[in-house]
Amino acid sequence: MIYLKTAEEIELLRESCLLVSKTLAELAKLVKPGVSTAQLNKVAEEFILDNGATAPCKGYCGYPAAICTSVNDEIVHGIPSEKQILKDGDIISIDLCTLKNGFVGDSAYTFCVGDVAPEIRQLLKTTKESLFKGIEQAVEGNRVGDVSNAIQSYCEAAGYGVVREMIGHGIGRNMHEAPEVPNYGRRGTGTLLRTGMTICIEPMITLGNRALRFDSDGWTTRTVDGKFAAHFEHAVAIRKGKADILSDFGIIENVLKNLN
Ligand code: MF3
Ligand code: CO
Repeated sequence: MIYLKTAEEIELLRESCLLVSKTLAELAKLVKPGVSTAQLNKVAEEFILDNGATAPCKGYCGYPAAICTSVNDEIVHGIPSEKQILKDGDIISIDLCTLKNGFVGDSAYTFCVGDVAPEIRQLLKTTKESLFKGIEQAVEGNRVGDVSNAIQSYCEAAGYGVVREMIGHGIGRNMHEAPEVPNYGRRGTGTLLRTGMTICIEPMITLGNRALRFDSDGWTTRTVDGKFAAHFEHAVAIRKGKADILSDFGIIENVLKNLN
């Protein structure tokens, strides 16, 4: 069952998604060597609550934190910890949701910690670019497979692995709605995209092989080969001609630009 949203509902969803982006921008100021992922979680949760929202990841299927923090070879759903201290050369993917006005915002961004190797920076760049390749296809009349294939072909042409086990999703009053939005697939297949559909597109891309395993915490996924992984996510509303991107990397990147 796909819930189509009215223009008014899309504005409420946008407000929630923009709060996600603002929270990620707050965290961007703190992503430095020496900070723990638990500190990032604490700041994020306080910021979300201060802005009249809640953090629906907390308690979702028993997930224990407000945000997901995935460092280096961790792909997604890493659990913040006091013991996990960021160091120079690391990368960290931060994925978070907010619940505001009854709508769930969801977006993710991968940050560099200090001086990161060029090979890894390129992985981040390509992963983010692949997200926009997918978004280009997220228009009325296309199918989910057009989005999926755009991401897959772009990342595989660069020699990267495209994670299969976790995928994007519809978003709205629920964190996960239909349709499923895989980062791999065939053009012209899958759900027909229509105006009013709101979906999260979220490539999870590995420097090496795409094989993953779960940690004993039951949440953290990491690459089997130990190579780094990147994750970027936007929530978008489907329209004719061009998707309406509801989250905003510009807010985050303004902060990053002014830090350096
Ligand atoms: N933001 C994540 C997603 O894409 C949800 C994380 S799982 C949770 O779909 F348990 F942390 F909520
Ligand atoms: Co998501």
